[in-house]
Amino acid sequence: MPLLARTRGRDRALGTHGTLMALCQAAGLPIASACSGRGACARCLVTVISGAAALSRPGIRERRLLARVGAGSDQRLSCQCRIVDPSADVDITTGYW
Ligand code: FES
Repeated sequence: MPLLARTRGRDRALGTHGTLMALCQAAGLPIASACSGRGACARCLVTVISGAAALSRPGIRERRLLARVGAGSDQRLSCQCRIVDPSADVDITTGYW
């Protein structure tokens, strides 16, 4: 169960290939966006509950935007972030699931 989305209704196991945003959307979980996943709006922030080490390192675009919006150290842009260690468990959530 590499990626688990924690929701109020029920937790959902997701796949491992693609951005976190794409994985969530493929599972029917909404991800907010105003830039269609281009790393410009920060609406797609997710909170990483555990497994952050199994995610891709933030690139310069993501680091700049996370800093600009004052994101917490446990938050990532789901449109810019991928799982790089598919054997690890990663738990994420949002404020609106
Ligand atoms: S969808 Fe806009 S930054 Fe991710």
